Amino acid sequence: MEKGAQLYEGKAKKVFATADENLVIVSYKDDATANDGEKKGTIAGKGSINNRMSNHLMQLLEENGVPTHFVEELNDRETVVKKVEIVALEVIIRNISAGHFASRYGVPEGIVFEEPTIEFSLKNDDLHDPLLNSYHAVALKVATWDEINRIKEMAFTVNRVLSEYFLKLNVRLVDFKLEFGRLADGTIVLADEISPDTCRFWDATTNEKLDKDRFRRDMGGVEDAYREMMRRVFGKEE
Ligand code: TMP
Repeated sequence: MEKGAQLYEGKAKKVFATADENLVIVSYKDDATANDGEKKGTIAGKGSINNRMSNHLMQLLEENGVPTHFVEELNDRETVVKKVEIVALEVIIRNISAGHFASRYGVPEGIVFEEPTIEFSLKNDDLHDPLLNSYHAVALKVATWDEINRIKEMAFTVNRVLSEYFLKLNVRLVDFKLEFGRLADGTIVLADEISPDTCRFWDATTNEKLDKDRFRRDMGGVEDAYREMMRRVFGKEE
């Protein structure tokens, strides 16, 4: 499938038109940002890792009944996906306290919750993605109640499937961010990506961080962490 005009460039991906109005091509970059774009850098090889890992996980989720935007991987960095209108919410599921949950509520990282939590942020870098509840999202016409209920149900299913999957790779799925989109007929599908950029992965034995927190917190070993996650997902030959 041929790439047409560039439709959009985000912080980590570009989106191109195709000859089919219902499909677009996503191209993953090595660019990394943190703090709503304030901190900028490059993580060598990230585009390819995130593309391949995200596609692998989206296919696993499809097999487990979660509809996604995934259509076909074209090459290391590029994938055909269904064209969606992105729901302007960042949907965050947490199993263990970390990051903004720990700083916001003044608790240590590493508390294992009895049940996963869900929260929504408004996708708006200028406003620093403010936290909002379902009523606010409906009031702002970001989503309808039916869409919010569907998104919650899908997000918890994603958590069950991926938590179990990663534990077999000796990885704790601490938390993650999902984005959803609407197809032309209004169907909600899982969109964006699932990768070390959008998930916290801790080694289940050592609690070593194997995700973008190494970049956000200037810990070093960023590329190695992404490669290690790739190795666990795809096997030693990676
Ligand atoms: P947080 O603790 O910073 O709110 O992050 C929760 C999860 O969401 C974590 O796995 C990282 C992911 N995340 C993103 O994918 N994009 C973002 O812009 C932020 C702030 C977090």
